[in-house]
Amino acid sequence: MQLSSEYVVALPRADFPIPGPALPEVAFAGRSNVGKSSLLNLLTGRRALARVSATPGKTRALNVFNWGNKVYLVDVPGYGWAKTAKTERAAWQALIHRYVREREALAGVAWLLDMRRDPTPDDVSFGRLLAEARRPVLPVLTKADYISRQKREARLAEISDALHLPAGMFVLTSARSKEGQETLREAVLALAG
Ligand code: GTP
Ligand code: MG
Repeated sequence: MQLSSEYVVALPRADFPIPGPALPEVAFAGRSNVGKSSLLNLLTGRRALARVSATPGKTRALNVFNWGNKVYLVDVPGYGWAKTAKTERAAWQALIHRYVREREALAGVAWLLDMRRDPTPDDVSFGRLLAEARRPVLPVLTKADYISRQKREARLAEISDALHLPAGMFVLTSARSKEGQETLREAVLALAG
């Protein structure tokens, strides 16, 4: 299934409207460098969709893409970047907390986790925010191509245990091998309702 996709707007605030048709929003969030832009490109089948729109450096806005006139994909600035200044971290927190807690059109959150890494305290607190806000969550493991077939089950168990989520919820993906592309598409559309 190939849907058209286009960049729409960058929202500097969590309560700004999106210009265009009223569609459900699915947010993509995770640690900085987790592979978010690559995953959006895998999802939409566009090689540089997420990069063309993103401001180089530290984007602190919500980048919105219209995917097939079915859903707005919302690229959330990554968290957990050690060098981020305190003031910027506070700005990120305010933007994201407000967006996750209060955004009416938000249908769910695709939560990206690097399959090679153990969840960090930042991951755990983001998970807590999602749970408190009672948002439907789609946990997505990125960079699965780095993990051999024999080690996958154990890795998945470790990560899902650490986050207190059932292993069966996770979608395994690789932007490099395109593994999980169709499963991801179906799951995102299901999240959008
Ligand atoms: P920021 O926006 O800078 O926080 O990063 P991001 O989360 O958007 O990650 P991005 O897609 O830019 O990818 C970060 C790095 O990981 C790049 O060097 C990618 O090529 C690499 N990468 C992303 N996805 C995969 C994957 O599935 N497999 C492999 N092997 N590398 C990946
Ligand atoms: Mg990115």
